[in-house]
Amino acid sequence: MMEPIQFDFGNMMAPALEGGVEPGTFDGAMSEAFGEAHAAVEAQRSSGVLGFLDLPYASETAEQVRTLAEGYGQWFEDLVVLGIGGSGLGAKALRDALLGPFWNDRTDEERDHFPRLHVVDNPDPYTMSGLFERVDPARTLYNVVSKSGATAETMAQYLLIRERVDAVVGAEAARGHFLFTTDPTSGALRRIGEAEDIPMLPVPENVGGRFSVLSPVGLLPAAVCGVDLTALLSGAAAMEERCRSGRLSENPAGVLAALLHHADRVQRRPIHVLMPYSDRLRSVALWFQQLWAESLGKARTIGGEPTATGPTPVAAVGATDQHSFLQLLMEGPSDKVVVFIEVTDHGPDSVIPQRHPEIKELAYLGGHSLGELINTERRATAEALRLEGRPNATFFMPAVEESTLGQLLMLLQVATVYAGALYGVDPLDQPGVELSKRLTYGLMGREGVDRPDLPDPDPRWIL
Ligand code: PA5
Repeated sequence: MMEPIQFDFGNMMAPALEGGVEPGTFDGAMSEAFGEAHAAVEAQRSSGVLGFLDLPYASETAEQVRTLAEGYGQWFEDLVVLGIGGSGLGAKALRDALLGPFWNDRTDEERDHFPRLHVVDNPDPYTMSGLFERVDPARTLYNVVSKSGATAETMAQYLLIRERVDAVVGAEAARGHFLFTTDPTSGALRRIGEAEDIPMLPVPENVGGRFSVLSPVGLLPAAVCGVDLTALLSGAAAMEERCRSGRLSENPAGVLAALLHHADRVQRRPIHVLMPYSDRLRSVALWFQQLWAESLGKARTIGGEPTATGPTPVAAVGATDQHSFLQLLMEGPSDKVVVFIEVTDHGPDSVIPQRHPEIKELAYLGGHSLGELINTERRATAEALRLEGRPNATFFMPAVEESTLGQLLMLLQVATVYAGALYGVDPLDQPGVELSKRLTYGLMGREGVDRPDLPDPDPRWIL
């Protein structure tokens, strides 16, 4: 039986937390507001725009991905995903959580002959030349991921790599080294794929980039590297069902959204820190940072009224960031909420040896495991924050594996659409990213886009 993720939000609530949410407020105004948000999300679900909710049940797509992944067998030594934003962060989150530690440094045998997995998002020339040196184009599969099929960063990388692969293996064989994940019907990438007979996987029309981790965008790289898609999707399905309830007290995604929205709008705590105590979940925190920021940072309400709304998400990792960030969390402005993730069973663990019983700074560690230490630090940090009147909450993840990760990813996505409804904004669009794209197009000389007249730098302000 699948073990469920649990959410302990006691450190957000009064009287445990001084100034915390009153139980009466939770049961009253917050539950009422959530009821309305829930109804709005259900209406969106019925209208078909929340395609990510259906992904756990898309068994045909999962089968198509599995078949394609098996077809590639364990032949390729490297899999390179070219995709940025929502088209890259999900694959990184799955890789870092589910493939073993130091995956890309392992030998072929240690990886059971599954490929190394590189997610290359930034068009940084330094990274790209490093990649060219690192992978053998003749033994590499390139998964080009772009819903629009026109993203400058991804397309530039594709053009460069395609030329290189053509040169090494020949234009005909090169086609077998590419797989496109893109819009099911339109876009430049699809046109190239169709013209050149390159295998393609669809990103469903009603699934946007940052909600696409459980679509072929995330599933294909995961499957090629041996991840169990069935368990991942079953976990997501279980959480999707759990998060359907219209009762706030039964709905973990609803509680997260309602508490963080309340923290921002009522308690003036707009900074929301996601801090897993697990290296494997660091990339999940980065994935969430994009999800929360791009979905909720909006200039207009869904009805078109001006607003400048949106919390600021921050990705951190424990215990590492106790030594960089905790001082600010404890004593800086009380404008933050920390959401921890604790992993109950970290898997292989090590017991700290009792080597210096005479040195009190070390002696107490002996006999405890590293898992005990990291989880105790999480618990101690949560309590320290509570004692300072700083709200925090904790997800307990039984283990980092496919079924629990599927639950977590679904929970955070559902919470995002509930938060969108609570803030009154559309969590599915991102109009704010268009202007800089357009300026880039103009400066780079794209046909049909005027070259912008950028002001010259003012020499008075340059040192
Ligand atoms: O979440 C989003 O919609 C964005 O972050 C996109 O994923 C990102 O801009 C990449 O877009 P595309 O998949 O069209 O290349």
